[in-house]
Amino acid sequence: MKIFKEIESEVQSYARAFPCVFERAENAYMWDSEGTRYLDFLAGAGTLNYGHNNPLFKKRLLEYIENDGIAHGLDLHTRAKADFLKAFKEKILDPRGMEYVVQFTGPTGTNAVEAAMKIARNVKGEQNIVTFTNGFHGVSLGSLAATGNAHHRDAAGVSLSGTHRLPYDKYLGDQIDTTEYLDKVLADSSSGINSPAAVIVETIQGEGGINVASAEWLRNLQAVCRKHDLLFIVDDIQAGCGRSGDFFSFEEAGIEPDIITLSKSLSGYGLPFAVVLMKPELDQWKPGEHNGTFRGNNLAFVTAETAIHHYWSDETFSRQVKAKGHYMQQRLQQIVEKYGEGSFTTRGRGMFQGINCINGELAGKISTAAFAKGLIIETSGADDQVVKCLCPLTISQDELTRGLNILEEAIAEVCTNVKHIQPEKVYFLAS
Ligand SMILES: Cc1ncc(COP(=O)(O)O)c(C=O)c1O
Repeated sequence: MKIFKEIESEVQSYARAFPCVFERAENAYMWDSEGTRYLDFLAGAGTLNYGHNNPLFKKRLLEYIENDGIAHGLDLHTRAKADFLKAFKEKILDPRGMEYVVQFTGPTGTNAVEAAMKIARNVKGEQNIVTFTNGFHGVSLGSLAATGNAHHRDAAGVSLSGTHRLPYDKYLGDQIDTTEYLDKVLADSSSGINSPAAVIVETIQGEGGINVASAEWLRNLQAVCRKHDLLFIVDDIQAGCGRSGDFFSFEEAGIEPDIITLSKSLSGYGLPFAVVLMKPELDQWKPGEHNGTFRGNNLAFVTAETAIHHYWSDETFSRQVKAKGHYMQQRLQQIVEKYGEGSFTTRGRGMFQGINCINGELAGKISTAAFAKGLIIETSGADDQVVKCLCPLTISQDELTRGLNILEEAIAEVCTNVKHIQPEKVYFLAS
């Protein structure tokens, strides 16, 4: 561990919560350099939906490298890119009746968001973009302006502009439809909201604490966008690629975004890769206007194409994810009822599930206790109050049960020492 203390920047975050040196990984397991095995309910923060070192992808990748396939290709046409585009069109877009142009951006989620916001602004000739409370879209300046979290925003060093924040679904309580507010302010020339180019939204806010927008709210949001001529952007970087049970997280809502961002699990192997999907008429880019050296990660194209063929050629995988998600939801509900003193709640959709422990200190202690028992699990939300279960979608039923058992043991252990839970303070028995 000495070398990390010596020269790695203070900016480290996950490494602080899980302080060991990882060496090897297979599907839902990781091993540290001392041979200790951990179940991984973090899964690269949603990047390893198909598990660590998925053997199908590994085989294709090794063959491709062995045959001297193109590894880096800027935005040159390559066989690997053609194969990815063909698979994406035939297995993902066409069966869903979706007609979109694919833009390869720099390989991070934040770069795809930057590109999406640029397109919207340029096409509409307006600067302002509507964003939501607790939204997370990345930490480069444009995306950071759309991100809500103060910890991240405070690091910007310049003013963050060009966005206007509105309350997300249920932010003002279950009974209030916040899209009505958006509709009203957009209709009022004196509301103080300059006419926006677009709305950007996550269907399930991952970093924001697994806040799930209802299908009805998403449909209403789309309707308001159409009514006031705003582009509708869905950031599906964390909730997409199967996490919700469908390839796109918004399929259940039956909406049709104008622009979609994808990254994280798109490559399937943890290889950096991001795209923007846009309606053909929005593709008004001039050559190279949004460029980047690493737009052509051909190794990622190979694994992404394999993932699409193997997991998305029929409904089998989607059904499995939904069934496991249902099991997770039930188990978490039982845990909440047993240990939560009426304060804990479950949240999530598909295999994007978590427990709101209403207090960050408590959730942090649960994550630490789980790690000591061999489970890697992180927290999210404004105060890190939500314990977030983001295991690989390919996890076996046995491993899933085992992971949830460990989580339950950790919660039981931490909660035995708790006298009273308040959002702002937990009263512990001993300390
Ligand atoms: C919804 C969403 N958008 C964008 C991003 C930013 O992606 P990246 O960290 O790859 O820049 C994230 C990362 O967590 C995310 O969850």
